[in-house]
Amino acid sequence: MSDDRLIVAMDVPNALAGLKLAEELGNAVSFYKIGLGMLTGGGLALANELKEEHGKRIFLDMKLFDIPATVEAAVRGLSQFNLDFLTVHGDPYVVRAAKEGAAGKDLKILGVTVLTSLDRDNLDEAMIREGDLAEITVERAARAFDAGADGIITSPNEAAAIRALPQAEGRLIVTPGVRPYGAELGDQKRVATPAQAIANGVDHIVVGRPIWKAPNPRQAAMAILQELNSPQAVVSNS
Ligand code: C5P
Repeated sequence: MSDDRLIVAMDVPNALAGLKLAEELGNAVSFYKIGLGMLTGGGLALANELKEEHGKRIFLDMKLFDIPATVEAAVRGLSQFNLDFLTVHGDPYVVRAAKEGAAGKDLKILGVTVLTSLDRDNLDEAMIREGDLAEITVERAARAFDAGADGIITSPNEAAAIRALPQAEGRLIVTPGVRPYGAELGDQKRVATPAQAIANGVDHIVVGRPIWKAPNPRQAAMAILQELNSPQAVVSNS
């Protein structure tokens, strides 16, 4: 029944609530994203428990960014755990260091392209070169792939252009900003339905609030899984 194209973002208040959510979702969900908010409150122990005791796949969303030696050491430390995906910023020297740290392990290194919270003004403020945000995102994805990233994180909007890159062959595209047809957007602005994201060449969608905030999370997850497999959902939201 579970389909690992759906990754549930476990943005709940603490590890106990995370465990409860995983128990409620049961065999409907096989892949969880654990982010910084949870990691600073026992999230690594939760990740290991979900992996070892419940057989789930784990995506640690740490968005590491530091000097190469530190990134390499951090990733080497993490790769002793049997986890699946780890995010680092997509700057080529960061990706290369992370890949060194993960050498010989199954941990997949995913590069963050451009945070979807950033707009052109933020990029100007940070002295990032002029140009269209979407173009910069696609270029950063290409450079992350060239540096050896196993995949990248991007908004659903740029997914099709990134999938079309020659470097994207055999690499993973993972996207948040996914909302089932008719769902509340929350603070997400540029969204796609699950089926649209998959049609754009995305391998995994990350969905948080539409599942963990739902009155019945398992039912919400099942509805998304159904949408993933129904091409008419692409048409219905276009
Ligand atoms: O609740 P929602 O479905 O919006 O959660 C999306 C998840 O993906 C959250 O954990 C959020 O932090 C993460 N994310 C995002 N946009 C990014 C990077 C990560 O929404 N650019």
